[in-house]
Amino acid sequence: NGSAGKSGKSRNILERMEESGKNCVIFYGSQTGTAEDYASRLAKEGSSRFGLKTMTADLEEYDYENLDQFPEDKIAFFVLATYGEGEPTDNAVEFYEFIKGDDVSFSEKSAEESPLSNLKYVAFGLGNNTYEHYNSMVREVNKTLTKLGAQRIGDAGEGDDGAGTMEEDFLAWKEPMWTALSEAMNLEEREAVYEPVYEVTEREDLDASQETVYLGEPNKNHLEGHSKGPYNAHNPYIAPIAESHELFNDKTRNCLHMEIDIAGSNLSYTTGDHIAVWPNNAGREVDRLLDVVDLSKKRDTVISVKGLDATAKVPFPTPTTYDTVMRYQLEICAPVSRQFVSTLAQFAPNDEVKEKMNKLGGDKDLFAEEVAKKNFNIAQLLAHVSNGQKWEKIPFSLFIEGLNKIQPRYYSISSSSLVQKDKVSITAIVESVEVPGAPHVVKGVTTNYLLSLMLKQHGEENPDPHGLNYAITGPRNKYDGVHVPVHIRHSNFKLPSDPSKPIIMVGPGTGVAPFRGFVQERAQQAKSGENVGKTILFFGCRNRTEDFLYKDEWEKWTSDLNGQFELVTAFSREQEKKVYVQNKLRERAEEINKLLEQKAYFYVCGDAANMAREVNDILAQIISEQRGVDKKKGEDIVKSMRASNQYQEDVWS
Ligand code: 2AM
Repeated sequence: NGSAGKSGKSRNILERMEESGKNCVIFYGSQTGTAEDYASRLAKEGSSRFGLKTMTADLEEYDYENLDQFPEDKIAFFVLATYGEGEPTDNAVEFYEFIKGDDVSFSEKSAEESPLSNLKYVAFGLGNNTYEHYNSMVREVNKTLTKLGAQRIGDAGEGDDGAGTMEEDFLAWKEPMWTALSEAMNLEEREAVYEPVYEVTEREDLDASQETVYLGEPNKNHLEGHSKGPYNAHNPYIAPIAESHELFNDKTRNCLHMEIDIAGSNLSYTTGDHIAVWPNNAGREVDRLLDVVDLSKKRDTVISVKGLDATAKVPFPTPTTYDTVMRYQLEICAPVSRQFVSTLAQFAPNDEVKEKMNKLGGDKDLFAEEVAKKNFNIAQLLAHVSNGQKWEKIPFSLFIEGLNKIQPRYYSISSSSLVQKDKVSITAIVESVEVPGAPHVVKGVTTNYLLSLMLKQHGEENPDPHGLNYAITGPRNKYDGVHVPVHIRHSNFKLPSDPSKPIIMVGPGTGVAPFRGFVQERAQQAKSGENVGKTILFFGCRNRTEDFLYKDEWEKWTSDLNGQFELVTAFSREQEKKVYVQNKLRERAEEINKLLEQKAYFYVCGDAANMAREVNDILAQIISEQRGVDKKKGEDIVKSMRASNQYQEDVWS
C-alpha cells in the first residue's frame, strides 16, 4: 500500500525491490542478531557467487498483503530464529500473525485456494533443541506458506544452537540449497569475487576530538549528551551503579552482586524480568586485532562508512574511528566461523598463509580441531596462522560484514520490584579469563566488564587485575562515577499473582538469581500481613563455605516468612559422590507431588543443557511414581504443566 514505515521508507516490499533492482529478498526474524547475520551472509553469497541482486529485510519493516503478487522470477528467503518457548522473535511477530491469521487476506487473490502460488521461497531456521518447541518458527512458517500455495526451493534448513552445531548446520544446508536455487532460477555460478558492501572513507577533515565523531555513543542523542527515553534494545540507559560487591571468589571464579539504579529513567521492571547490559570489548583484544591488521597507528583516524547499495544498512553510527568500531560495535571476541576463515584467505599476507586458511576453511574436522576447540577469536586466529605477519590487505568493510554487531547480554534480575522498584540487581559469575589449551582467551566479555566496573566503583588501585583494559568510564568520559548502559526485557517468568499459592523453585549456582527476587518479594508480602503460601527453593553449589550464594539473606527471609519458606541445599562437592538439586527433589518426591496437586507453580532457572533437562525428567519420574501412572503419562503431565505455565523455565546455555 506504499505507506511509509518509521524509517520513512516504503513498507511495500515489491516496490522496494523494483526501485532498487533486486530479484532476491532475504527476510530475517532475529532476536540476538544471528539470524540477521546469516541473512547478510546469504545476501553476499547470492550476489558474489550467483549474480543475484540481493537485499536483506527486517521482517518488521514491511507489509505482507501483497505477497500474492510476488513476481515469479524473483525469490524470497526466510531466515527465522525461534525465540523462548517457540515464539517468533520480536521483529517477526506481525509477519507471523499475518500469515497465520485464520482469514489471511491478500490484496488480490484472497479468495483463491492458493494465493501464494507465485511465491518461490527458501527457508532456514535457527533454534535450540534444549527448548521444547525446537525451530517451531521455521516449521510453522514453512507449513503455512506451503498451504497457501508457495513453492519452497531446497529443504527448509534447521540449525541447532543447543547442540552447538548452528554454524555447521547452516553450512551443510546451504550448498544443496544453492544447487536447487540455481536450477529453479537458471543461475550460473561464477568465481566468487569479493565485493565490499560498505565504502569506508578515511576523513582527513575530521579528528576524533570533534563533537560530531562517534566514540562509542549508541546514537545521536547520546552523542549530543542528552540521551532520552524510551530506553530499549536500540537505546540503552546509562545507569549509575548504586552498589556492588563480591559474593564469593575462589581464584578462578568471581561472583558479583550489582545494584543498578534506574530511578528517573522511566524504565520499569517486574520480578522475574531480565536486564540487558551493553558491554564493550576488552582493550587488550581491541589492541590485538588492530595490531594484526596493521591499524594500530591509525586507530583514532576518523572514518565514514556508507552502504554501497541503498539496502545495505551500516550497523552503527558514523563518522567514527577504527578503534570505536572494534571496541564498541563489533563482536570481536566471539569464536570465528569457518566460512569467514575461507573468505579471509584471499587477503592473506602471502600464498603459504592463504593456503593454510583455505585448508582450515574447507575442512570441517581440521577446523574443529585447530580453530573451534581452541576458542580462537579473529585476531588470535589471524596472528596464529600468519605467525605474527600483518594482514594489511583485509578491506575494513569485510569486518563489518563478517563480524556480528556486539549484542547486549541478558541477566535474570535478582531483586524484587515490589521491594526495590528503582534498583535492579544482577547476580553474575565472572567466567575465567584463561581457557586451558587456548591462552589469552577472554571468556565472558560482559562479566569481565562488570568485574572491572565493580573494582572501579570500590576505588581499587588496580581495577584491572587481568590486564583486560575495558573502557569503564564510557565514551569521552561522559559518565562520571560508575555507570553501565542497560535496558530491561520483560519476561514471562512470573510469580503467581496470588501469593498464597505454593511455589517450588529450582536454581543451582547463579540460576538462583530470579529466586532471590521471588523470595524477597514473598518475604515482603508476609511482612505486610498477606497470606503467603509454601515457598521451597532447591539451591545447589559446590560447598557451604565456598559458593553458597546469599546465605545470610535466606536466613533472614526464613524468619520473615514464618516457616513458609524452606531452603533445600545440595552441596555437590562436600562428599565423594556428587549431590545435585535433582537428588534433593527425589528425596522430597511425596511432598512435591502433593504441592503440585495443589497447583503449586514449579520454576527452573540456570543451565539449559544439562540441569534443566534433568530436572524435567526427574519431575516426570516423581509424578509417575507418586501417582502410579506410567513413565509416558508422567512426561505428558509435565508437558501439560509447561503448556499451562504451571512449569516455567528461565534457562541459558
Ligand atoms: P559441580 O560443579 O560440583 O559438578 C552450581 O554450579 C552447582 O550446580 C554446582 O554444585 C555444580 O556441581 C552443580 N551442577 C553441575 N552440573 C549439574 C547438573 N547437571 N545438574 C544439577 N546440578 C549441577
